[in-house]
Amino acid sequence: PTVDFELTVNGAPQRVTGAWVGENLLFVLRERLGFTAVKDGCGEGECGACTVLMEGRPTTACLVPAVAATGLAIETPEVHAVPQPDPVAAALAVHAGAGCGFCLPGIGMEMRALLAHNGKPSAAAIRETLSGHRCRCLPPERFIAATRDAAK
Ligand code: FES
Repeated sequence: PTVDFELTVNGAPQRVTGAWVGENLLFVLRERLGFTAVKDGCGEGECGACTVLMEGRPTTACLVPAVAATGLAIETPEVHAVPQPDPVAAALAVHAGAGCGFCLPGIGMEMRALLAHNGKPSAAAIRETLSGHRCRCLPPERFIAATRDAAK
């Protein structure tokens, strides 16, 4: 069966029509609504590439039925570019720009959520927070440094 519903993405309403009832939020955000900064990695909740914020909480969009996100505030990595690059995006560019970049949108969302609750996170707290994100290019120290810079 198909369903029609509305999502709130980065503060704006987004109408979804004719979606399969089981379509996940990752697919709907990327393929139906064009939020392609959300990355499709493992599709199984293991890599963190698809992380978005739902009501401020980091959530792997590949594991959430899109229809279940109705009425919740969803933030995607596109928020880092509007209206201009914010501290998280700027810090990632400086400290993690040498990598392939695939994991950065999800890590950026995680950093954003962490810094919203903890303005001066310790290295251990950052490492623990980002432990669910797979980066194949760079050591965790890069992301610890980026998070600390974004917090300044
Ligand atoms: Fe969702 Fe990997 S694509 S966690």
